[in-house]
Amino acid sequence: RILVIDFGSQVTQLIARRLREDGIYCEIHPFNLVDAAFLADYGPKGIILSGGPASTRIETSPRATEEVFTFGVPILGICYGEQTIVAQLGGEVETADHREFGRAEVEVVESSPLFQGLWAKGGKYPVWMSHGDRVVELPEGFHPIAITPSAPYAAIADEARSVYGVQFHPEVVHTLDGARLLSNFTRNICGCHGDWTMAAFREEMTAKIRDQVGDGRVICGLSGGVDSAVAAVLIHEAIGSQLTCVFVDTGLMRAGEAEEVVSLFRGHYNIPLVHVEAEDLFLGKLDGVDDPERKRKIIGGTFIDVFEEEAKKIGGADFLAQGTLYPDVIESVSFDGGPSVTIKSHHNVGGLPERMNMKLVEPLRELFKDEVRALGRELGLPEAFVGRHPFPGPGLAIRIPGAVSKEKADILRKADAIYLDQIRKEGLYDEIWQAFAVLLPVRTVGVMGDERTYDWVLALRAVTSTDGMTADSYAFSHDFLSRTATRIINEVRGINRVTYDVTSKPPGTIEWE
Ligand code: XMP
Repeated sequence: RILVIDFGSQVTQLIARRLREDGIYCEIHPFNLVDAAFLADYGPKGIILSGGPASTRIETSPRATEEVFTFGVPILGICYGEQTIVAQLGGEVETADHREFGRAEVEVVESSPLFQGLWAKGGKYPVWMSHGDRVVELPEGFHPIAITPSAPYAAIADEARSVYGVQFHPEVVHTLDGARLLSNFTRNICGCHGDWTMAAFREEMTAKIRDQVGDGRVICGLSGGVDSAVAAVLIHEAIGSQLTCVFVDTGLMRAGEAEEVVSLFRGHYNIPLVHVEAEDLFLGKLDGVDDPERKRKIIGGTFIDVFEEEAKKIGGADFLAQGTLYPDVIESVSFDGGPSVTIKSHHNVGGLPERMNMKLVEPLRELFKDEVRALGRELGLPEAFVGRHPFPGPGLAIRIPGAVSKEKADILRKADAIYLDQIRKEGLYDEIWQAFAVLLPVRTVGVMGDERTYDWVLALRAVTSTDGMTADSYAFSHDFLSRTATRIINEVRGINRVTYDVTSKPPGTIEWE
């Protein structure tokens, strides 16, 4: 196993992803939580220091604990990670005149185990750079192995100590050989075997859950999405009847959601499930609230109220289980007051109230969506369920910009079901990461038959993505969009105009709130 020490780069999670795709287990931990005791306990075969937004030229900028350098396993620093290695081992970093962002070409000046079978001395290779500072003087023992015109130390090595640094980002796909370069580090230099699989994760995680929970009781909220279902099944495998699953019908679920979840758990798995009808409660609390972050916080808080209520009924619960994924964590958690900002408070992370009396069990926190799907298959979830598009915890509330009402939720639910039905009928469902309708708080004039109408506008959204971190709008045919629009306007009272959202992420986000 490899340890990735996080200095706050937006792409740190991609390091983990590349490693796991290569069959190598790793975990990401923030730099300030990694100390000597942690290293001894974790026992990594290699350490990767991530990039980050800080500058080593600032006294208070993050540093790796000194024990990283004496622990005795190979180290690879990426971008800020390289700079902090240099700064901490006695070299020098300065602010570059020319900041380098995007594509660049490195020239290999020395053959190295890092480039083995990949990059030859004298060759030039495309990489992806993103840095303002650059290394100007190497610590003793280091020498450059690749250069660019503006970064004379684009890659450096001290083979004797097995410490490597690269100024570019091997974890992003724009660095063509990046994944293989990481593989050289983990397999050839650190000696990892690459035999980690989802089956191994399942076993390790069930043991960890047993360890964390002891003989405590756990409540798990099911949202109707894949993540919470996978988390629940995994936890059930670990602790059996210590787990109580709760499906809360918030009135903000998609059409047919409740039935599907209830039949999966009670029918397919025979896992007991409490079904709570809470539409009035949720819609009551959301009444008149139009700020997106407040809506998220209110929904997160109300979920906790319901879970605590249910916990009381079973004589108290010690833990709340959630299907939080890595992208939820990274987008919700601001980095220790640093410059990586909160985009949205995903309700299963940042939207939880401080006062919550239960501790969290989040077995999927390290995983990406496609990894959760693989784990779901491993756990025997039906393919149709595993392949479902993601559905956010706050549900339809964040697809009704502005204030939410039952009337609006009903209109949206109907339109959304027709849209998804069209997509399924045309065999497009599996090509799309996520498709849904958004009910805009805008009314426009239309004409139906001989009547004037003054009704709501619906926006359709469909995106392709591999992990929800970035996304492109899906290119439906014009025909498909017209047919769908016609069906929705004919069948759903209250909508008289349909639009299609062609924004990618970034600059948009997938959901509208
Ligand atoms: P955004 O809108 O941030 O969405 O681009 C990225 C992915 O995350 C989902 N999402 C959520 N999932 N709780 C969740 O469980 C939330 O609060 C939440 N907000 C967004 C979104 O549907 C997309 O798949």
